[in-house]
Amino acid sequence: MVESGRVIAPRAGRHHLSQNETYIMSIVKFYKEEHQVPLEMHKVRVVQKLFLPTVEERVQKLREAGNNTFLLQNKDVFMDMLTDSGVNAMSDNQIAASMQADDSYAGSETFNRLSRVIEHVFGTRYFLPAHQGRACENILAETFVKEGDVVPMNFHFTTTKAHITRKGGRVEELIIAEGLDPNLEYPFKGNFDIARLRALIEEVGADHVPFVRIEAGTNLIGGQPLSMQNMLDVAAVCKEYGIMSVLDASLLQDNLYFIKTREEAAKNMSVAEIIRKIADQMDLIYFSSRKLGFARGGAIISNNESLILKMKAFIPLYEGFLTYGGMEVRAMEAMAVGLMETLDEEIINQGPIFIEYLVKELSEYGVPMVKPAGGLGAHINASEFLPNIPHEQYPAGALATALYIAGGIRGMERGSLSEQRNPDGSENYAELELVRLACPRRVFTLSQVKYCADRVKWLYDNRELIGGLKWVEEPEVLRFFFGRLQPLSDWQEKLAAKFREDFGESL
Ligand code: F0G
Repeated sequence: MVESGRVIAPRAGRHHLSQNETYIMSIVKFYKEEHQVPLEMHKVRVVQKLFLPTVEERVQKLREAGNNTFLLQNKDVFMDMLTDSGVNAMSDNQIAASMQADDSYAGSETFNRLSRVIEHVFGTRYFLPAHQGRACENILAETFVKEGDVVPMNFHFTTTKAHITRKGGRVEELIIAEGLDPNLEYPFKGNFDIARLRALIEEVGADHVPFVRIEAGTNLIGGQPLSMQNMLDVAAVCKEYGIMSVLDASLLQDNLYFIKTREEAAKNMSVAEIIRKIADQMDLIYFSSRKLGFARGGAIISNNESLILKMKAFIPLYEGFLTYGGMEVRAMEAMAVGLMETLDEEIINQGPIFIEYLVKELSEYGVPMVKPAGGLGAHINASEFLPNIPHEQYPAGALATALYIAGGIRGMERGSLSEQRNPDGSENYAELELVRLACPRRVFTLSQVKYCADRVKWLYDNRELIGGLKWVEEPEVLRFFFGRLQPLSDWQEKLAAKFREDFGESL
């Protein structure tokens, strides 16, 4: 694609569909089948030195961080698997484009370029920029959610729910039953239960449902995808009842890979065609570009001008002028190229194939993992890993701290700590107690992924040493980000001592 005389995207996918040709995701087969491993389809040309503190230092750093992996300092982390948000490696073309950004408060050419790319990828004419995904959620909630409203979704995300409840709304999760069984192999565990969606709308009345939110690549249940058909079915129900359909496309990239590889109806479609088929049926789409497009920033997009006009004034109010919305212009250029790269299957397969490898390695050893491998990262089922630690001692939080002790690996608790308390102050225990090992794209090599698997296996063999946690400082809103906890005994020191015994002088 050439804009203003310059190339703004690299080659699109290598495969161009001709009539009667089947689109199949490219894989590279190894001569010796038993040596089959995921293969990086890129080379690394900029590197960052890493440090691995000793196990004793790791116990100390954890204490200083209040046993909250969000509060660890990056300099003390060997493998940062907290998130893939804003930490994916950028391509040479993204960096090159960001050097040519048109910096101006209003009317920048960068905005026009990004708008054209968004229209090319999603087919949407209107684009409101925002500084990241949750900023889009804030504007959506501010504009559309009233006291007493109900917002159905396949599953909540932390920031989404916080914005909706802050406006007096309620979130209803309508995920299919398969989605909540971590051991069940099912290709589209993020799917909506369509019958329950209809029943809910009938029960509360369409007037009390400002929109239905479809979260691609369902984050909190292990990055599990929805099928293209399910997304279209939800959109059809919305149309039938006159309710707005909203796609949270933050994790669409991995979801596209799964649609392409798991859904029969998509076999002969290009990634670009799949996106358009989905986007054409949505009233509104928003996304965090910290994930989608390997960049930074956020966007609300639509073909419906009146919906956009309702939200428009909030952009300059909360974000920044309408042509940058709180984003740095360099990030917007990187986002434009990153979105084009999302159409390339050899680029979007890199997350899922490495995640699948890690999940396979660990599952074969007996470590309870969320199956099948999803997007975003590998997810350990902490309830099964630590069956003796009850919800109230936060098994997923405890496991995340143990993993940092075992290998300087920073994962993220995705369980009860990440929940909000009920309005009466009682705990709202999570349905799944997970530790997420996010795989930022193109950041870790296969040997680092193997190191991660090795340390998790060691921890699994020593799981009886792991104990629980309790709060010492608990913020009221989004407590998991900056709350502080304490181990319930000296179990962390004992775990470190066992590490010394088993690994000797090794870091
Ligand atoms: N929606 C989904 C599905 C997300 O996964 C995220 C962020 C957001 C919205 C909010 O976007 O961070 O740009 O404000 N997920 C990050 C994560 C935080 O680590 O999974 P944001």
